[in-house]
Amino acid sequence: MSKDNSLSDLLIPEKDLNYFLSKEIISNLDRFNALAANTPVNLLVVGKQGCGKSSMVKQFAARHNRPLATFQVGILSEPGQLFGELRLKDGETYYQQFLFPQAITTPNCVIHLEEINRPEHPKALNMLFSILSDDRQAWLDELGSISVAKGVIFFATLNEGEEFTGTELLDAALRDRFYVVSMDYLPMDIEKEVLKRKTGVGEEEAQNIVSILNNLRHNTKMPIPVSTRHSLMISKLVNAGATIKEALIFSLQMSREALEAILLTVQIEIGESEISKNVYELY
Ligand SMILES: Nc1ncnc2c1ncn2[C@@H]1O[C@H](COP(=O)(O)OP(=O)(O)OP(=O)(O)O)[C@@H](O)[C@H]1O
Ligand SMILES: [Mg+2]
Repeated sequence: MSKDNSLSDLLIPEKDLNYFLSKEIISNLDRFNALAANTPVNLLVVGKQGCGKSSMVKQFAARHNRPLATFQVGILSEPGQLFGELRLKDGETYYQQFLFPQAITTPNCVIHLEEINRPEHPKALNMLFSILSDDRQAWLDELGSISVAKGVIFFATLNEGEEFTGTELLDAALRDRFYVVSMDYLPMDIEKEVLKRKTGVGEEEAQNIVSILNNLRHNTKMPIPVSTRHSLMISKLVNAGATIKEALIFSLQMSREALEAILLTVQIEIGESEISKNVYELY
């Protein structure tokens, strides 16, 4: 969370010319964009880790020329902490306002609340309830009444992991205030295109990487979630000269033995890494 209150923090993000999104989500986001001009719109973006949620929020802002302000809800430990805090200077306490009040009073701003299901303190979200409700207002002793500016749109993102199923962990009253946008990992052919465009790997390598990753993801014995973030990391390593096997070992945070066992069970043949791990030399 930025503690700097300067206007320069609220920038329109740059377009990512290699960001792909399903047509269905694109047209619905366009509708939400239009709706937000005269009605409160809160969107909850749900999807697995690294599937492109934060980038989608950023690209929404870029596409619609809206300034973007992002806040980590996961680190909040008390109600009101988004707005500001009491500080001490020369023995006097004063109220330091943060970026959040400025962002929500900036017309057309996109407010991104990250990890909304994981505040450190259960009451940390209390101030958000009234901001996200239809009257879009909050009262703070230090700042008085704050009203959300025209056209502001709220996005909240949360990870849908194996350990929980997304929205269930969110307080029902809070969840009730949102439209839901569900995202998933990209289809194979699109992911291949993203890898080629973003990392420079060639067609054949991209094809290999994507098919191996999909085997890992969808094998019935032990599915391994591999995010788009990780497939990009793997492709970058391959593009820097690593074999796919080396790139997998160094990206997936699993031991060589475990990886080999899984590759065997799903019968993936990806060749040896070129350099033995047991030969040492001075570095
Ligand atoms: N559809 C896509 N097209 C192009 N690049 C993508 C796409 N989805 C994800 N990426 C890339 O993958 C990386 C991870 O994406 P992002 O950070 O948006 O995921 P996330 O879902 O917000 O992750 P987390 O769950 O960790 O918050 C970024 O570098 C992003 O540019
Ligand atoms: Mg994210």
